[in-house]
Amino acid sequence: MEKTDGQRLIESRRTIRMFTEGTIETKELYDLLASAHQAPFHNKIEPWNAYLFNGDGKEVLLDALEPAFTDGPEAKREKVAGRIRNAAACIYVTTKPFETEKDKKDALLATATFIQNFHLLCSERDIGLVWRTGGIFEDARLQEMIGADGETFVGLLQLGRFEDVPPTKRRQSIDSCLTIFE
Ligand SMILES: Cc1cc2nc3c(=O)[nH]c(=O)nc-3n(C[C@H](O)[C@H](O)[C@H](O)COP(=O)(O)O)c2cc1C
Repeated sequence: MEKTDGQRLIESRRTIRMFTEGTIETKELYDLLASAHQAPFHNKIEPWNAYLFNGDGKEVLLDALEPAFTDGPEAKREKVAGRIRNAAACIYVTTKPFETEKDKKDALLATATFIQNFHLLCSERDIGLVWRTGGIFEDARLQEMIGADGETFVGLLQLGRFEDVPPTKRRQSIDSCLTIFE
């Protein structure tokens, strides 16, 4: 069976962690986020929120991380801040607060599809992206400073232009995960 464009896009998507110099227009990211926003969701409202820090805007994120940096070892500050500076832009993605466990779970699942939509769209336009989930980003003071208090952190997406593509993380055959009844 010949592969479709969609199959090729999904199979060629990579996580990119090292970025080269180069900016990304806020308008371009906005348009890709608007398309990713068509992700499925089962809550009454779209469950995700996204906070975009582009270019100099990343200083707002770094300032918001300052209390957590101050509490931790200097090496952590260097590593986390270095990665944020290396990226052209960062997007802090959360789920909105929901009451029930069911709604919270649906919100998380839907938000993951929003992120994957966005990752695929970035990949199509040669924008590199890594989805990071480090615990430092759950810091309540950071969330308050960017206006995400009470929300659940899902990922910090770091984006940028890139040259090197890391080797593909090997997947087992789908046969190891699939049971077919026919
Ligand atoms: C929920 C989730 C959390 C992740 N968290 C991190 C992370 O904290 N740091 C990181 O470097 N990569 C993170 N990744 C990226 C994975 O390591 C990456 O997807 C995996 O190595 C497979 O590589 P690929 O995306 O190129 O196929 C995360 C991915 C997912 C889906």
